[in-house]
Amino acid sequence: MPDMKINDVPTRTLRPATDARAVDIIDQTALPHDFRTLRLTTLEDAEHAIRSMQVRGAPLIGVTAAYGLALALARRADDAALAAAFATLAATRPTAVNLRWALTRMQTLLAPLTPAARAEAAWHEAGVIAEEDVAQCRRIGERGLELLRPIAERRGRLDLMTHCNAGWLATIDYGTALAPVYAAFDAGIDVHVWVSETRPRNQGLLTAWELRQHGVPHTLIADNAAGFLLTREEVDAVLVGADRIALNGDVANKVGTYLKALAAREAGVPFYVAAPRSTIDFECASGAAIPIEERDGDEVRVVHGLDSAGQTSRIRQIPAVAAVINPAFDITPARWVSAIVTERGSCPASRDGLLDLYPEARHA
Ligand code: MRU
Repeated sequence: MPDMKINDVPTRTLRPATDARAVDIIDQTALPHDFRTLRLTTLEDAEHAIRSMQVRGAPLIGVTAAYGLALALARRADDAALAAAFATLAATRPTAVNLRWALTRMQTLLAPLTPAARAEAAWHEAGVIAEEDVAQCRRIGERGLELLRPIAERRGRLDLMTHCNAGWLATIDYGTALAPVYAAFDAGIDVHVWVSETRPRNQGLLTAWELRQHGVPHTLIADNAAGFLLTREEVDAVLVGADRIALNGDVANKVGTYLKALAAREAGVPFYVAAPRSTIDFECASGAAIPIEERDGDEVRVVHGLDSAGQTSRIRQIPAVAAVINPAFDITPARWVSAIVTERGSCPASRDGLLDLYPEARHA
């Protein structure tokens, strides 16, 4: 699979700076209208980038947190500083388990080292986690293509539906749910993607943007149109990412995923969840135990876009006093998930399915 490109230039969502102890990110709050990068140099920069969703998507949040810890240790690396940086970053977003997974991995490696050795080791390990993410996403693409190819051969084309952004922008490269899409497209399959807008933060616009960069045909739909398209037999499979997969196969993903899974089940359309190992929480028994992030109500009350003069603009749709609830994720029960696609292959969404793919987790 070739690297993801912007204007034909291979680009990653996060890059360690070559000239400084810093990382450069794409500011995803400016997309799809403006492509700009930002430099993170401190723990506070990394904390802000994750909280404000300048970086977002479970795997990318995890890698950013790992680098945030490395940036913190470059300034102070005693035990208290390590614990404080861990706590600061772990509190940024609660649902995507990749965050805690990456921080725990870093802490397990760093805690036994002398403070003098920690900063260098942290920087190196964050880079290893980032490279692993790239390799795993590439493999998810290959594994997912194995599921999609027979459908494409039967129909002569592939119409897929996705939700939120589980693409290149949500990871370091390739994506999770979109990795099989890119693999299919690069293999010459006639593939088209229905992209749901994903209110309130409209991550579907990021999906449309990155699919356009790669030349993959796609159509944006309002979230409410998904059920209609599924009943019209316009969709061969639904493919989404995950923020946390519980041991029983329940899946936390962007709010609205549940409704797509429900409609797909009623329509007899396969519903696939693509995620790397870092998204599976073997310590979490079921979806009921997954914390669901509740975000600011203004994400629902206020919309963003370009005004008629082409300037970025915020429009308040309803007064600030309007009661709003804004859960960022929902839980799709394992019984509605046709398969989970990981870097090791596909499995049923169940305890046995996950543990057969990751036997080492049986004894962890
Ligand atoms: O709130 P976000 O934009 O971070 O949520 C992202 C999602 O829900 C993605 O679908 C999920 O993280 C999988 S990303 C590869």
